[in-house]
Amino acid sequence: MTDTQRPAAQSGLGEIDRSGARVTVDDKAMINCRADVNQLLPLKYHWAWEKYLAGCNNHWMPTEVSMQADIALWKSPDGLTDDERRAIKRNLGFFATSESLVANNVVLAVYRHLTNPECRQYLLRQAFEEAVHTHTFQYICESLGLDEGELFNMYREVPSITDKAAWALNYTQHLEDPSFTTGTPEKDQAFLRDLVAFYVVFEGMWFYTGFAQILSLGRRNKMVGIAEQYQYILRDESIHLNFGIDAINQIKIENPHLWSEEFQQEVRVMLGEACELEVAYGRDTMPRGLLGLNAELCEQYMRFITNRRCAQLGLAPVFGPTENPFPWMSEMMDLKKEKNFFETRVIEYQNGGALEWD
Ligand SMILES: [Fe+2]
Ligand SMILES: [Fe+2]
Repeated sequence: MTDTQRPAAQSGLGEIDRSGARVTVDDKAMINCRADVNQLLPLKYHWAWEKYLAGCNNHWMPTEVSMQADIALWKSPDGLTDDERRAIKRNLGFFATSESLVANNVVLAVYRHLTNPECRQYLLRQAFEEAVHTHTFQYICESLGLDEGELFNMYREVPSITDKAAWALNYTQHLEDPSFTTGTPEKDQAFLRDLVAFYVVFEGMWFYTGFAQILSLGRRNKMVGIAEQYQYILRDESIHLNFGIDAINQIKIENPHLWSEEFQQEVRVMLGEACELEVAYGRDTMPRGLLGLNAELCEQYMRFITNRRCAQLGLAPVFGPTENPFPWMSEMMDLKKEKNFFETRVIEYQNGGALEWD
């Protein structure tokens, strides 16, 4: 296959090969695959299909959650401290555009280069979930009567948020160039860096401080509607993260030459930088701390999460042994257990087998 034919074969939109042999499981591969990407069966990566089913079982919509208590609290003059309002607004501002950044990366960068139909099936589900998440921030903005210009421009106007978005964008910008194709070790590694930046860092590290902030408020009976929505988002994001980890690890197995000592060290440096950016964001959003939460605890939490992500990728930890300062976060990930925690209506969509949360 020539280089000019490869992008068409990888997209699934090229000429139909009328005389080609039938696809077998062994023909399928995560990247640079020549097997027909329009044929879901036979399945090769059952982990990707399982995640697609799990995502479908978790279906929810933000408008099913009542915002009445949140609206009353937000509008009451002494319902929240100024520090709490600042943290909430910056938190919402970070997520409001991050969900779109992640969605655009999935659709315009990752989808093109993952040459496997069951992974693409999951990406289509994930893309819809990111749309639901962006919808959540539109719904919150409208319900609370927030300044939409302020919220949706924070990623341009608040430096600690801009720094994070700019860091991640560095890794996706050249991938969405129409002339970019995988197929050389350098380009395949560029694709791996993008998966690390978005799945492991954006969705697997940076979202977690945001979840801890809002869920900590929810535990104290504040902004319970938003907290419930964040629980659903967290449930979705933990599957996105685990899909990303499985995808990276599968690419490693199929292309061991990409996962060199040098590249592993580079990924560890990326995770360390991402942790620092998050610590700066924590200080900026909580300069004096909130009840039960402050920038120091968030820093410790981010170090704990960073080490955990290293372990999931088979890398040596970036930091020394660090304890999880928010053990209650793992309970928050189990919606069944916490079903009545916020005393709001919960629609139990989950009907599949047990899922592994992280
Ligand atoms: Fe999301
Ligand atoms: Fe996500």
